[in-house]
Amino acid sequence: MASTPAPQTYRVKSFGCQMNVYDGERMAELLASQGLSPAAEGNDADLVVLNTCHIREKAAEKVYSDIGRLRRKDGSSPLIAVAGCVAQAEGEEIMTRAPAVKMVVGPQAYHRLPEMIAEAQAGRRVTDTDMPAETKFDALPARRKSGPSAFLTVQEGCDKFCTYCVVPYTRGAEISRPFKDLIAEAERLVAAGAREITLLGQNVNAWTGEDFSGRAVGLEGLALHLAKLPDLRRIRYTTSHPNDMTDALIAAHRDNPKLMPFLHLPVQAGSDRVLKAMNRSHTAESYLKVLDKVRAVRPDIALSGDFIVGFPGETEAEFAETLALVEAVGYAQCFSFKYSPRPGTPAATMDGQVPADVMDNRLQRLQDALNRSQVAFNQATVGRRCEVLVERKGKLPGQWLGKTPWLQSAHFVGEAAIGDIVTVDLIEAGANSLSARLVALTAV
Ligand code: SAH
Ligand code: SF4
Ligand code: F3S
Repeated sequence: MASTPAPQTYRVKSFGCQMNVYDGERMAELLASQGLSPAAEGNDADLVVLNTCHIREKAAEKVYSDIGRLRRKDGSSPLIAVAGCVAQAEGEEIMTRAPAVKMVVGPQAYHRLPEMIAEAQAGRRVTDTDMPAETKFDALPARRKSGPSAFLTVQEGCDKFCTYCVVPYTRGAEISRPFKDLIAEAERLVAAGAREITLLGQNVNAWTGEDFSGRAVGLEGLALHLAKLPDLRRIRYTTSHPNDMTDALIAAHRDNPKLMPFLHLPVQAGSDRVLKAMNRSHTAESYLKVLDKVRAVRPDIALSGDFIVGFPGETEAEFAETLALVEAVGYAQCFSFKYSPRPGTPAATMDGQVPADVMDNRLQRLQDALNRSQVAFNQATVGRRCEVLVERKGKLPGQWLGKTPWLQSAHFVGEAAIGDIVTVDLIEAGANSLSARLVALTAV
């Protein structure tokens, strides 16, 4: 078989959740450590990695249209690798449907990319969707680059098996990365310029480990230790499950000043019957109780969540319970989706699949309610003095963009630099961002 020359340049395109973004960064670092360079903006790459998401049908189908569009300017095809959750779930199908794809690599196997590339160069198509017990993280090169805000995956996989969700199948069983590895990676990220670290996991608050003294700790213990890194100024975490929101983690929102006042805690629906059919193992009431506890220790906390409308069997009255929950909580921001039946999940074959027009209508009403809630939250913060972590330049001269503690986008004009933590007054709220006045180039 024909052998292709070794790829010199690469591009990694990540879709889906932040954990996929993290994986994409790690794959890019791995390829760079093998001597490849990132393809310049607008230029063809010799190797393209599509790091895919399988969570909803639209996301999964996107990979096939993307593959079709990957011709190079000279008409040739780059080496194409499909990674991520579609690779895990539909590896064989990809190989049949898309002959241009030479490599299929699952989310737990991408440390093997270099060997796979060598195989592909020799003309062989290769699939690796193993989920080895030993973690890929040990096989990846140490981190060398970071922006001011970095992701750090601390936990992977899910054992919850919500009836609509593919994640337990695509990401495998829950595992927590070891404490010492995470501290080492965080130290590297901070040395490379990170001022904020967002700890990631499909159920990040289920993370457990042993600290340096051998004591069993949860996420609050990890955050406590990370807070000791002087140049690390902010710690965030996502995504949490309501049932793993321990009192210790809640208390950390009072005791650890570096833990930002933001909590992404998906509820999915407001009806207990629907929640049960989803196998969520919490009720609307138990969810609200968790939020009460968090608000008791951190009254200004910004709350966020995920919602699914049109789960099989959802009635109008049950949907109204979702709207009522949204009113009761007062979210700062949220994600909301139409239910998408996923092959192999129990909900896909449940009775009472909801018609598309009903789902459209419910999503519209939910999003209107969530938008109102977000605007109200942003308006309520106008007048506050707070810190902003500067992440990038804005479009206007002298303008900078960054995030408030409550994860709002804020912009201001002044002398600043990326990575600064500045003090601002929030002066006006738009739908998606706030304008701010620079008060000082230092923290409050
Ligand atoms: N582990 C997290 C998030 C997982 S996926 C959690 O438990 O909340 C992110 C979001 O995608 C989910 O919270 C859910 O709202 C949405 N989602 C998952 N499967 C879906 C499906 N089949 N259809 C529509 N939305 C879905
Ligand atoms: Fe999916 Fe549920 Fe696990 Fe979240 S908790 S990843 S929604 S199965
Ligand atoms: Fe998508 Fe996989 Fe994340 S399905 S949401 S990329 S865990």
